[in-house]
Amino acid sequence: MSEQDINAEIILDHYRNPHNYGKIANATGSVTEYNPVCGDTVHIDILEKDGKIEEIMFMGRGCSISQGSASMLTDFVKGKSPEEIMKVGDEEYLHMLGLELGPAREKCALLPLNAMHKALQERIRK
Ligand code: FES
Repeated sequence: MSEQDINAEIILDHYRNPHNYGKIANATGSVTEYNPVCGDTVHIDILEKDGKIEEIMFMGRGCSISQGSASMLTDFVKGKSPEEIMKVGDEEYLHMLGLELGPAREKCALLPLNAMHKALQERIRK
């Protein structure tokens, strides 16, 4: 099995058995992001405490890449500071997922990262 195949299996497993799926009642930030091309959505709730993401939950509807990526993102950002997360760019995130994707599928994979960045930006405005 190639590394690419293994990474594809990992994201599929997240899609089938999502981590941190649900809502946070006392969230400090929330956002729903959608892919205008297909209408698929990712909703993220975050709870910040002492300058770190203490809790994150997501809900959504869409393809295996967008939803699997959302589950992986929730594991990745837990315990990190908003500043660290804001620094993660598209390239770095796609590299972390370890999948070779075409431009359309890259948008699927990046939907949760965009949602996360928006959730952090919105809570700054509050
Ligand atoms: Fe809609 Fe992937 S096909 S986000």
